[in-house]
Amino acid sequence: MVRIQGIIPCWSIEQEVRKPMRRKLIAGNWKMHGSLMQNESLLRALIGAQSPDHVDMAVLVPAPYLDQVRQILQGTNCAWGAQDVSDEVRGAFTGEMAASMLGEFGCRYAIVGHSERRQRHGETDALVARKAQRALEAGLTPIVCLGESLEQRERGETKSVVRRQFGAIIEVLGAEGISMSTLAYEPIWAIGTGRSATAAQAQEVHGWLRQQMAEHAETVAAGLRILYGGSVKASNAVELMSQPDVDGALVGGASLVAEEFLAIARAAAQ
Ligand code: 13P
Repeated sequence: MVRIQGIIPCWSIEQEVRKPMRRKLIAGNWKMHGSLMQNESLLRALIGAQSPDHVDMAVLVPAPYLDQVRQILQGTNCAWGAQDVSDEVRGAFTGEMAASMLGEFGCRYAIVGHSERRQRHGETDALVARKAQRALEAGLTPIVCLGESLEQRERGETKSVVRRQFGAIIEVLGAEGISMSTLAYEPIWAIGTGRSATAAQAQEVHGWLRQQMAEHAETVAAGLRILYGGSVKASNAVELMSQPDVDGALVGGASLVAEEFLAIARAAAQ
């Protein structure tokens, strides 16, 4: 069980029992895109527009841009974060970023376990769980990605894959750690393909995942934010975001276009 100092969950257990209030989060994962110039105009467009009330917004940017993003977004209602974090605290780990360093740049979030890292960098379920733990210890909210490949879905293994990934997380973080985390269901076959999961497919996995959590702690399950990711765009956001267990989106390509990203946020506010 992770020991977390001085972090108070944004919801109280008593309130949660009465009325599970989950604020939606629309988070843009820029992946390895951007330049100082492009970022500046994208961010200025985001903060210059009327952003919807009752929806949290964030951008998850390449690490070299964290200082730029902090300077532009400080004092606005758009948070920011990183796309990965080390599972180590500090030391001789070339190329890695400690959670405490991300905290120094004002990060609120860190993605962990994105399928692009699981696949390209061989990240295991256990490593992803340790990364989430480090993020929590530094006061960041990990956005933990889960999801199956096309072959796994076609073999009917979606739930067993997601159960295994989730099991590794709960084993390390415990229910308390999960209560301070965000999950993102990102079916690999929907990422960057233009082929989103249908609203019904997303809801099925999200509802089931919340049920898995409820078996450990019902109050945590009721308050747990579960984002959907995979080809979310303005044209499919309303339907996806209206599902009862979809609490926002982790947006790739469409987050690089201010109007699209804002339209997704507005869809979440409906
Ligand atoms: P796309 O929205 O480009 O499909 O990417 C989804 C994603 O991987 C977000 O983390």
